[in-house]
Amino acid sequence: MTIFEQEKAGGMTHSSHHTLERGHALYPGTFDVLTLGHLDIIRRASTIFRRLTVAVAQNPGKAAPLFTVDERVAMLREAVHDLANVDVASFEGLTVEFARKIGAKVIVRGLRAVSDFEFELQMAMMNESLNPEICTVFMAPAPAYSFLSSSLVKEIARFGGDVADYVPAHVAEKLVKRLKENDVR
Ligand code: COA
Repeated sequence: MTIFEQEKAGGMTHSSHHTLERGHALYPGTFDVLTLGHLDIIRRASTIFRRLTVAVAQNPGKAAPLFTVDERVAMLREAVHDLANVDVASFEGLTVEFARKIGAKVIVRGLRAVSDFEFELQMAMMNESLNPEICTVFMAPAPAYSFLSSSLVKEIARFGGDVADYVPAHVAEKLVKRLKENDVR
């Protein structure tokens, strides 16, 4: 019997609110640009939670994004169109507030290396302090993606390198196009 079936049958004896929390999770991020590493986390999380909302933060404290929030949402939607339990949104303000608004009790974050841990742990604890009903779940991407970052991908593309191994094809196309447009200006 899976935990979902146990839960349905009323057979869970402890941490019952935590089992219910597995229902809807939120994966927030900047996603400027979406990488195959992000997508790997999305796919893994979509197999664990009944529903996953991937949300682009409008104010992550990062300067000068390459793509607008709407463009990032559109690229994410195209990337997850085959995942029936995944939806894509954007939000302004606090992540915990958005999670509360959509009824997600779990925040998913990827941990690529130990170097991510300190900041991610700090954010997780701050988010839990802001809303104790919401917990953070860390997921490791496939090792092949553990060195990936959006900034590195943008830098490689900027200098004419091939990013096909690091981002979905439709993202690579838009990335090259945007960098060309920016160069012309
Ligand atoms: N594969 C590839 N790259 C990954 C990755 C993965 N699995 N996981 C993280 N990254 C990289 C990203 O590419 C990005 O790289 P960059 O710094 O070169 O751009 C970096 O790690 C982090 O990106 P991302 O996962 O998109 O998250 P973020 O750190 O930009 O997002 C928010 C942080 C949006 C979750 C956070 O700022 C937030 O919650 N903001 C809302 C306001 C708020 O609530 N603040 C209080 C927080 S306690």
